[in-house]
Amino acid sequence: MSSEARRVEHQMTDKGYVPVYTTAVVEQPWASYSPTDHAVWGQLFRRQREILQGRACPEFLTAMDAMGMSDAQIPKFEELNVHLQQATGWKLIAVEGLLPELTFFEHLAAREFPVTWWIRRPDQIDYISEPDLFHDLFGHVPLLMNPVFADYMQAYGAGGVRASTFGPEPLANLTRLYWYTVEFGLIDTPEGLRIYGAGILSSKGESIHCLESAAPNRIGFDVQRVMQTRYRIDTYQKTYFVIDGFDQLFKATVDPDFGPIYYRMKGAESIPAGSVLDTDRVFNRGSGEGWLADGDV
Ligand code: PHE
Ligand code: CO
Repeated sequence: MSSEARRVEHQMTDKGYVPVYTTAVVEQPWASYSPTDHAVWGQLFRRQREILQGRACPEFLTAMDAMGMSDAQIPKFEELNVHLQQATGWKLIAVEGLLPELTFFEHLAAREFPVTWWIRRPDQIDYISEPDLFHDLFGHVPLLMNPVFADYMQAYGAGGVRASTFGPEPLANLTRLYWYTVEFGLIDTPEGLRIYGAGILSSKGESIHCLESAAPNRIGFDVQRVMQTRYRIDTYQKTYFVIDGFDQLFKATVDPDFGPIYYRMKGAESIPAGSVLDTDRVFNRGSGEGWLADGDV
């Protein structure tokens, strides 16, 4: 990572210690990307696009083309913003890295999506522990072109601002919802299960694993179930939750007032990442192969 990214502290969260950067919004320093930076983008772009044919949801692939992302060079946020503005009114802002939670929620509520401006080094092509430009831009941004998903993201931000006033438990519940939808969500389509979560879309290994491996659970989305379920930050997920469509996601989250739901869940035991419940709609009961016993967060 670039030495220009200003990491200010490490903060303990339910994801463990995470680096937190300055809250400053910067200009994307596009002219300062090196030929290596552009080459890393191009290599990752080509590899993921190929893997994601028939694995990503069609909305994602179509939107990526429509906004003019390609392997040729790191996209300019300014140019992507023209397409986003027109489609859904979203706007990308360049940041140094992970933001404090409340700041992040406030940006989403204002339809601003923070994108880390720096890209990983060539020796980090297959794995990097914190979000970089490739994850944020390739993984998250195309679906912001979809009107229903775009509204979901804004409502999530507003819901986060509100939950911040309720305390740590509601915040943990919401973080799990983000994790199992925005980062690791699957969607059921007439052609079969497809990926819409950015954490999967930016990962070669997990793009194949989440759909084709017998190891993980694939379970129908239920908002309260998801908000009680722990997750992995260091390995592939043990469980993926499947939505029927973005409308289902919207209806289950944006419409209801989470106040009473948080209240009902207060003090309830969380569900281990790999559990299957009697009430689950099971697409695949995971074999559990390769799972680590400890370490769900
Ligand atoms: N409807 C939720 C609330 O009342 C907010 C929310 C919207 C949460 C979308 C997640 C996703 O707080
Ligand atoms: Co992400």
